[in-house]
Amino acid sequence: MKYEKFINGLEKEHAMIEQAFKKLEPKIKNGNVSDIAYVLEILGQLKTILINHLKDEDNLFYPDMRQKAVELKQDALVPSLDVYIEDMKNVSKKVFDFFSRYDNENAISGDEKGFIKGMIEIRDSLVKRVMTEEKTLYYIYKAYHRI
Ligand SMILES: [Fe+2]
Repeated sequence: MKYEKFINGLEKEHAMIEQAFKKLEPKIKNGNVSDIAYVLEILGQLKTILINHLKDEDNLFYPDMRQKAVELKQDALVPSLDVYIEDMKNVSKKVFDFFSRYDNENAISGDEKGFIKGMIEIRDSLVKRVMTEEKTLYYIYKAYHRI
């Protein structure tokens, strides 16, 4: 049950991450940022979700997956998991670098182009990460724990 609750929580967080990006989309159009206060509020919410989510995945989910694959002698899976794990750590780093760089109105209004470019980059990386997890890794995790 604890595994089921854990994975359900991760899935809910994925939906929340997606929603936050949807809210941000109309605020960054034509290379300009409108309503920076609102953008910062949504970014704050996104950051809170991601701190929790990426920590749970990087520290619990991925190590658990790797351990299971080793235990079950799924030798073909272990190297691909290692690649994922490294890749996901880079995504986490990129995301948190972005948050610390653009954490106030002046930082955003002083560099709107960089902000928009950075946001598109983290959105694309996160969307790719979420898709990989939901389409493959979460399935394997559920099979490991008979969910
Ligand atoms: Fe995730």
